[in-house]
Amino acid sequence: MTPRLDGPLKVAGRAKYGLDNNFPGMAFGYVVLSTIANGEIEAMDVTAAKSAPGVLGVYSPFDPLDLRPTSTPLMGDTWVPLQDREVAYYGQPIGFVVAETFEQARDASMLIEVSYHERPALTSLEDGLATAEDAPPGRDGSPPALEVLAPGVESFEDALAASPVVVEATYRTAAQNHAAMEPHSAVAVPEGDGVTVYTGNQGSTLMAGELAGALALEPSAVHVLNPFVGGAFGGKGRTSIPAFLAAAAARALGRPVKAALAREQVFTATANRPATVQKMTLGADAHGTLIALRHDSWSSTPMDRSFIEPTSHGTSREWYATQNLAISQKMVPLNIPPTTFMRAPGEAPGSFALESAIDELAVALDMDPIELRLRNNSAAPPGKDLQWSSKHLDECFRIGAQRFGWAHRSPNGHTDGDWLVGLGTATAMFPALRFPATVQVTFRADDTAVVGTGGADPGTGLLTVLALVGAESLDIAPERVTPLLGDSALPPGGLSGGSTATASAGTAIMIAATNLIDELLAVAAAPGAPFEGTEVSYADGRVLADGKSMTFGEVLRAVHRPSISATGSSAPGEELTKHSFSSFGAQFVEVRVHRLTREARVSRMLGVFDAGRIINEKAARSQLMGGMIWGVSAALHEGLEVEAGGRLANADFASYLLPVNADIPDVDVHFVEYPDTLHNDLGAKGIGEIGTVGMAAAVANAIHNATGIRVRHLPIQIEDLL
Ligand code: MOS
Repeated sequence: MTPRLDGPLKVAGRAKYGLDNNFPGMAFGYVVLSTIANGEIEAMDVTAAKSAPGVLGVYSPFDPLDLRPTSTPLMGDTWVPLQDREVAYYGQPIGFVVAETFEQARDASMLIEVSYHERPALTSLEDGLATAEDAPPGRDGSPPALEVLAPGVESFEDALAASPVVVEATYRTAAQNHAAMEPHSAVAVPEGDGVTVYTGNQGSTLMAGELAGALALEPSAVHVLNPFVGGAFGGKGRTSIPAFLAAAAARALGRPVKAALAREQVFTATANRPATVQKMTLGADAHGTLIALRHDSWSSTPMDRSFIEPTSHGTSREWYATQNLAISQKMVPLNIPPTTFMRAPGEAPGSFALESAIDELAVALDMDPIELRLRNNSAAPPGKDLQWSSKHLDECFRIGAQRFGWAHRSPNGHTDGDWLVGLGTATAMFPALRFPATVQVTFRADDTAVVGTGGADPGTGLLTVLALVGAESLDIAPERVTPLLGDSALPPGGLSGGSTATASAGTAIMIAATNLIDELLAVAAAPGAPFEGTEVSYADGRVLADGKSMTFGEVLRAVHRPSISATGSSAPGEELTKHSFSSFGAQFVEVRVHRLTREARVSRMLGVFDAGRIINEKAARSQLMGGMIWGVSAALHEGLEVEAGGRLANADFASYLLPVNADIPDVDVHFVEYPDTLHNDLGAKGIGEIGTVGMAAAVANAIHNATGIRVRHLPIQIEDLL
């Protein structure tokens, strides 16, 4: 139960986030956004803005900053602001004003007159369904249309026709904003030919490369620092608009430039989770064995079609054993702000549809929903040969049912005074992935060690994990290990995304530590060193040879070395040809719906997770609790509302609803711990995203149990329960 190393700094306000950095001569930038959703900018009159007090520069598509198209290896092409006059959504960055003070920059930005050639905008997913396009296979994890049929079965329709029980229903999920506490922001400082950028993100090495591409600099000329990140969730997987603009303006003006999005701007000038429509078709025999499963999805996407929510990908493809499976994924291009990965992309909204449909099937069969799920438990993803490396979902359900008192659930809920009470459950799954990562480990002469990698801790606890895995791998106490993260000058650490960071960095730490211990032993036994010519070994932070032992610090001091370092790299490899990998979980929710007001309140929730080895139980519990709360948020609170003209009606924290303390009961998180060393030597699988998966369905299923009302869209609101 190691407390988070950065906790005291954060709680005391001493953690320095990107925007907390200040420099002499620093100027301030303010981003200007479009006020139409579709069209072309005909002119921008910046005369008044340019002559406003304190203004240093006014940049627009007519007078752009020196930026060019760029990309990252993991995320692909990146849109770069001010490079053309096309407007494809309301709230698109179209200008940047830099002034001596923040107030002057914001004031001058209001003086810019923009004239547009406006075109009709398409902003509603429902309206766009008629013109949906097939999603390009492979992009954003989106599958090609896929059909797996049992031997002798000619078509999916035949399999369905042979199913005694059929459930067919369409589900809808709302678009969501990442709503990180730290708005997207940057402080850029020109340094010689290059630039240093302080900006919260999910992988400083990747951002440095992406910024270097945009600025036409060598990657080594861009230094990105993000020791602390105020939440990211996929929304900081790319260089942000303020970071591009501040970096380019800092170079143009030769001064440090600070820029941040206002909260309302975060809703459009970053990227959101797409809205989805999902049609589920399930066929089963009378005992509940799935015969046929079809999942057809439509995802909103901006006009550049840059990201779709791959709902048909993970969920139906992998969750249940079924002999006949059909998947399709379509996209609906709209005049909406950019879309991107949000925690559990695909799985979070996908599991709402699939796990609601499974619950509907249980009702149709008059069967316990846990029994139905376990009956169709898969040993391998349908249509794939590779079995799961390790799967204890049945145990998660068994333990969860007992902890939650599932046996007391009645098919029609129960009442408690004026409250209708219901219990719901759902499966959670998220693939166990890794990204390539390199870590440097250092022994210092003062008997401390350093573990460093260029990855990011966006609030997940990765910093503490580095110290713990470093200490274990070096066989010393965690207090003696200094973890370093969030600096592109460190070895490339991949992306804190895809629930990969612990497995990726952790495996690399183990390799680096082995290399470092080998190096230490070589130094200790070298000519002139304390153990010259002897057979040496290492344990407990000490070099040992018969009868004699010295700490690594003593050895380094004896040979006059301040430190020695080694790196280790790890990437996914041969294991991918042997097994399928995933984390698993069982979610349980109790909901109370008021008989008269119809408000729905979650009164208990439990998640039981099979996520491999848990490195830091305290951080892991918090991580999963956060995910589960986000699931409740998706179920009952969140949803971007797009007006016909493309403006978001609720782009602020007053009207974009998020749960507060009063909305969330005690959260019970439990682990069944089976280290998965077939996946990686550390045995850890991902825990970052699975917490949110299945929660929305568990809430909806509990509401059905309490009220008999099946709500097939998110968020579920009072008017749905009248
Ligand atoms: Mo994420 S959506 O990989 O934070």
